[in-house]
Amino acid sequence: PKTHEYNFNVTIIYGAPDGVSRQIWTINEQFPAPTIEITKGDRVIMNVYNNLNETTTVHVHGLFHQGDPWNDGSVATSQCGIPPKSTFTYNFTVNQVGTYYYHAHFPGQYIDGIYGAFIIHDPEDPYLDEYDEEYIVVLSDWFHTEGKILTKMYFELHFVEPNPNNGLINGKNKYDCTQLYPDTPCNGGECSKFTFVPGKRYRLRIINASTMAPFFFSIDNHILDVIEVEGGYIEKYTLTTVPLNIGQRYSVIVKADQEISNYWMRSAFDYTAYFRNQTTKVYNNAIVHYEGADEKEPTTQFWNDSITSEWKDLDQLVNLKPYYYEELPSSDLTMLLSTDFNMTEGYMNGSMYVPDYNGSTLNKVYQGVREFDADQNVYTFTQPGQVIDILLYNLNNKEHPFHMHGHKFWVLGSFNTNFTGVIPSNATFNLVNPIKRDSVTLEACGWFVIRFVIDNPGVWTFHCHIEWHAISGMVMQMVELPDSITKLDPPQDWINLCDYSMN
Ligand code: C2O
Ligand code: CU
Repeated sequence: PKTHEYNFNVTIIYGAPDGVSRQIWTINEQFPAPTIEITKGDRVIMNVYNNLNETTTVHVHGLFHQGDPWNDGSVATSQCGIPPKSTFTYNFTVNQVGTYYYHAHFPGQYIDGIYGAFIIHDPEDPYLDEYDEEYIVVLSDWFHTEGKILTKMYFELHFVEPNPNNGLINGKNKYDCTQLYPDTPCNGGECSKFTFVPGKRYRLRIINASTMAPFFFSIDNHILDVIEVEGGYIEKYTLTTVPLNIGQRYSVIVKADQEISNYWMRSAFDYTAYFRNQTTKVYNNAIVHYEGADEKEPTTQFWNDSITSEWKDLDQLVNLKPYYYEELPSSDLTMLLSTDFNMTEGYMNGSMYVPDYNGSTLNKVYQGVREFDADQNVYTFTQPGQVIDILLYNLNNKEHPFHMHGHKFWVLGSFNTNFTGVIPSNATFNLVNPIKRDSVTLEACGWFVIRFVIDNPGVWTFHCHIEWHAISGMVMQMVELPDSITKLDPPQDWINLCDYSMN
């Protein structure tokens, strides 16, 4: 195994990802943040220097951090924030494989650009012989106004989630400058380009790093064979369009088997999901350029509404099967939890989460604290090996992409009907071979059941990954095996961070 050491400088620059100038929050002045590529078993050392005027943290979305939960990078949950003008080092080995990403986990910073791909190669990848090259495809939504201003508007003026102005693929897209107020600096931007060598097979690692946008991913004229869901291999599943909610990742294999030409790669917004008062539609495209074709844009339309409507029914992906069969343990406990959202208030079981920046829950548990205030939304699990089902039901008429830290869970069932307090007799669950993931959509007014095992001492959040909803309180904290946490041996730097945290 290797050690990969990164020096990260969290800093603000000016840039124009889609041609429209604004401040971007970056790591090492790069947007998206630098790609981390390692192999299973490797060690990662991230020295994070915070050049902002507020605290920050870096979270790798989907890693377990078993035995070293202080590396999870959730402010107020797994650590105190890294104070301005100082450095904190994350240091961990990785025994997972697949497609992940990392991002700032301090309210609002994610919106403004602190996200990048985190790829873990697998020498035992069962699909290794089925592709020749790889590309990373980071999808995100993009705002022309900075997150701080939008957050203020959200909480003080408009009380509805600000809609993104554009979408980006690997940090780029075009934008029609005529939609802006006159004299706004704008050069129209350009699309990312992926070069395909005719006859080659590509693994695309697709990541949805959005603030609020679910996407439908496709490449004109091409078939996508899905092989990975969030670090788990699945039996090859052929689609023309892959839906990705926020925080979700898929790998697909695509063959460069079409006529030598240029094609649109499309990452279409699902407008039906959240977008209120959206006046202009935005299209998030990149170019798939076949080597040997003219250097120009595809001649087909940049927008394609007719495709979008067809795409909706692929949303469920209910037919995916894991590549490796794993016996599903039976459940020891079912927790019924509700979630709700109203204007700027997000609730888990009726309670709005309010972060305590003066100390993190993990620091407190480590020091022996076992009781928490109600607004900490803490659920404690003390039995090693206990198998938990969470039935989460949505009292709100918008969908919410939920993400759990420190775990993957089996998705037993997901429904778009109201939950009335009892599991309906006609509800069908997959108790045979469900796939595992770490990010799952809670349907509008719907519910899901997920299963996971209490086996990872730490404090892990379970939250809606729409940044506006997370900062509104749609977050709970799971304290897992607190007595084992107290016996861990965390680095002194992590303990010291809380001495400097803001008041
Ligand atoms: Cu992508 Cu709580 O994280
Ligand atoms: Cu939400």
